Amino acid sequence: MKQVPFGMTGVQVSEMCLGTMMFAKRTDAAESDRILSYALDHGVNFVDTAPMYSDGACEELLGRILQGRRDKVFLATKVHKGLDRDAILSSIEESLRRLQTDRVDLYLIHWPKAGMRIEEIMAALHEVVRSGKARYVGCCNYSAWVVEASNAVAALRGWSRLVCNQIPYNPVERGAEIEVLPQARAQRVAVTVYRPVLQGILAGKYDPDQPLPADSRSEGDERIARWLQTYAAGVRFFLQFAREKGVSPSAVAVAWLRACPAVTCPIIGPSRFAHIEDAVRAFDFQITPAERDALSKAFDAGVREETGGRFPELRRDWNLVHE
Ligand SMILES: NC(=O)c1ccc[n+]([C@@H]2O[C@H](COP(=O)([O-])OP(=O)(O)OC[C@H]3O[C@@H](n4cnc5c(N)ncnc54)[C@H](OP(=O)(O)O)[C@@H]3O)[C@@H](O)[C@H]2O)c1
Repeated sequence: MKQVPFGMTGVQVSEMCLGTMMFAKRTDAAESDRILSYALDHGVNFVDTAPMYSDGACEELLGRILQGRRDKVFLATKVHKGLDRDAILSSIEESLRRLQTDRVDLYLIHWPKAGMRIEEIMAALHEVVRSGKARYVGCCNYSAWVVEASNAVAALRGWSRLVCNQIPYNPVERGAEIEVLPQARAQRVAVTVYRPVLQGILAGKYDPDQPLPADSRSEGDERIARWLQTYAAGVRFFLQFAREKGVSPSAVAVAWLRACPAVTCPIIGPSRFAHIEDAVRAFDFQITPAERDALSKAFDAGVREETGGRFPELRRDWNLVHE
């Protein structure tokens, strides 16, 4: 597994981040332990969790199975509860207790909220870093202007900056292409991507022409049926492309993400051991720019007309950063 620079931090992380949202939910302790061990044995050193996952049970389980190997992992967790100073400071204490560690490597705001006070949030995050409870701070699901405003406050005050934005991105969910990805690339904000396989749709778990399979996340999430119906043609094209290439569909989904120069790491969220084996293999496969375009167009999910805020195409050889 390749190591990649993690945004502006100077730290290298594995190109795959292991997402643990299914641990203590669809995945029991023994299977979670097997998945984690396999990932670590194959060079993955970046692990993502959150207090929200199974009401703290995910962090607790991860804390138990990380014992004796905590130092091998760049560990990220998120802020629970609210976005005021007290919530940010107490949430990290609770996470550290559940994770059985003194500090995390990355502490992320999980969701922005209407009326959030950027200065108070950045001050509290800086306090967390200064107290040694997190090495770096970042956010999830922020629009580009909120990342920019937060980091402007941090720069003025000499506080820790948001080094990462964790967002959903895949051939169906492509809003990030308008501003989030160009802003992240310009400012060297790491982008970690959740829903890389659209909850299983782009991993071949679902056939748009067949009934939904039992024992799948479609039982608890109505979006899966809706996406399958809306993007049936794209899903058929995508699965056929994988068959022709002789790789698993998740290899195509991962290659599609890795071909975007603003993406730092896909967050792979296995619920079974077979998923992590498949995901590790996926990182060996690449697609050409023309293949990426064809896959994107098949979903008909991009912005088709000019928008005032749209940036030119992101190209790997185009450095937006002013040195
Ligand atoms: N910051 C945030 O707001 C946020 C939000 C969501 C997730 N996340 C993070 O991102 C990670 C990944 O997100 P996600 O789980 O929603 O999306 P995902 O990785 O797109 O979907 C994972 C699901 O896809 C199916 N799957 C995965 N690999 C497969 C394979 N090889 N073959 C067949 N099916 C496969 C499984 O579904 P079944 O279980 O149905 O088999 C699995 O639960 C999470 O673990 C979490 O760490 C962050």
